Amino acid sequence: MSEKHEIEALFENNRQWVSEITRDDPVFFARTASQQAPKYLWIGCSDSRVTPNQITGLPPGQLFVHRNVANVVSETDLNCMSVVDFALRILEVRHVIVCGHYDCAGVHAAMDNVMEGPLNQWLDGISELWELNVRKQMLSLCHTPSIEGAWRQRKSVRVHGWIYGLKDGLLRKLYPDIGSISQRTRAESELRNF
Ligand code: CO
Repeated sequence: MSEKHEIEALFENNRQWVSEITRDDPVFFARTASQQAPKYLWIGCSDSRVTPNQITGLPPGQLFVHRNVANVVSETDLNCMSVVDFALRILEVRHVIVCGHYDCAGVHAAMDNVMEGPLNQWLDGISELWELNVRKQMLSLCHTPSIEGAWRQRKSVRVHGWIYGLKDGLLRKLYPDIGSISQRTRAESELRNF
């Protein structure tokens, strides 16, 4: 495929996608252009095989998304914190999903300590276990002012920890969801006993 064709193919796909959607629902874009009301925030890995809307079968407008290498939630990351804050305070999402995946190269790299440059710093402190990484990021999320603030205002917000299997395409729940400060405390004591 020529370089020009590689790019042209995307526009061709896009036109096809638009025609498929509008064939079933002619006012889809007109309706969704005016507002979004997603119930979910997805925090996942940038990995090209883990595509949140496709995996969950959700159309445009229903999933607010943040992705980075190894689905890291860090309070010093202005990007991630802005997404979480926007999702919680403006969009009032009810569910925040941290979704890792098996065979995550980012987690591998952190374990092998092979990365150079920004990735080395980014992956600092990542757990060697994919499941445990999800747990850590869940708890980190539960300490953000956005989530804590929602709980203090007695808003119903639940933090979920899932993992995606590259080999079978299935999502799995890893841990019970966390929906309050007391549940967070319990989850933290379990992590310490791990
Ligand atoms: Co990954």
